[in-house]
Amino acid sequence: MNQMIKKISIHQLQPGMFVHDMDCGWMEHPFLTGSFKVRVDKDIERMVEYGIHELYIDTDKGLDVPDAPTQREVAVVLTRQMTALFETRQPVEPTSLHDEMGRARVVLSEANRIIGEVMHGARLGRQIEQEKVDHVVSEMSESVLRNKDALLSLCRIKEKDNYTFLHSVSVGVLLMSFSRTFNLKNEDMQLLGTGGMLHDIGKTRVPDRILNKTGALTPDEFSTIQRHVVYGQNILAEMPNISQTSYEVVAQHHERYDGSGYPLKLKGADMSIYGQMASIVDVYDAITSDRCYRKGMDPTVALRKMFEWSKFHFDPVLIQTFVRTIGIYPVGTLVMLESRKIAVVIDQQGRDLTRPLVLVVFDALKHCHLTPQDVDLSKPLGHGGGDKIVSHESAEQWRIDPYQYI
Ligand SMILES: [Fe+2]
Repeated sequence: MNQMIKKISIHQLQPGMFVHDMDCGWMEHPFLTGSFKVRVDKDIERMVEYGIHELYIDTDKGLDVPDAPTQREVAVVLTRQMTALFETRQPVEPTSLHDEMGRARVVLSEANRIIGEVMHGARLGRQIEQEKVDHVVSEMSESVLRNKDALLSLCRIKEKDNYTFLHSVSVGVLLMSFSRTFNLKNEDMQLLGTGGMLHDIGKTRVPDRILNKTGALTPDEFSTIQRHVVYGQNILAEMPNISQTSYEVVAQHHERYDGSGYPLKLKGADMSIYGQMASIVDVYDAITSDRCYRKGMDPTVALRKMFEWSKFHFDPVLIQTFVRTIGIYPVGTLVMLESRKIAVVIDQQGRDLTRPLVLVVFDALKHCHLTPQDVDLSKPLGHGGGDKIVSHESAEQWRIDPYQYI
């Protein structure tokens, strides 16, 4: 049977409809255990309360909204809008990705070690050694300035067990790369990096039993998790040299542009630019990471989702800048070409976001691996190019590990 998923507004939702996907941007959500049938009006009221504006329903399992667009129609329109917006060239990085990878690996493992120690110490009630964090953040910022894609692509690989601190480092890296797209001063970039590294430090005061719970959270457990923001602010308040910028990252990373976030339900311009940037990268990293209870989204899908949510949860202009930071097909993405060959995106610098440099690795028609070969999609046929991306592909489905090619 062909499953029919449609997108509707929360105002169209009625008891008897089957919710397929809540389309909400944050993960510690009591409803997030997935799909369910709406029984009573109270279910809908609660969804409104949690900031759900639009959602997807499964019309095979519940009532239909005949004129609502299908999920496929929505995806086609969003992809078209995004592609039209991003036919701009990525800047050329000072260092090639290949040359930066080795150094980025060293910096990243140092950052993971330090944030691991800091979180362990915070759990025991010790004060944060800010100099250690600042030192590694300064090395991270140098790597980001040489070539942002090196650390960004390495941050995609996370062991599920160490999620909390790997996520902290990722948020730091993402914030620094994001700030580079704005041409922020090096100093501001580092303050954002420190804020990113410490953004979830308050989770060290939330019991593990609740943090790692895989099933649905009770409303009490949900509010306990939400308290990590205030705990984080308290921990930072004890650090004598913490900057206002780093503090805002921690304090506002769960606020949302439409006022549906927490703890203060700040709206739009009431949030600082740093808080807004943090809320975007926190969601992006959370939804693209594998967790013990679910598989992470591919970056391309995640960016399309966030573009979709930007009507409500994020400032649309900031989201556009963020997409420009990551690229529509970031390094490490698996893509299907018009020639039915499957390729890994290996570099985007100096190119249009929709026409990166790829490595062709698999023939989807003949279903066989190929000797890897570079194709520059920004060039015409006969000049090492002449092909085009048709769609992004799931690495898992094709059983191809893109990272072995980078
Ligand atoms: Fe958080």
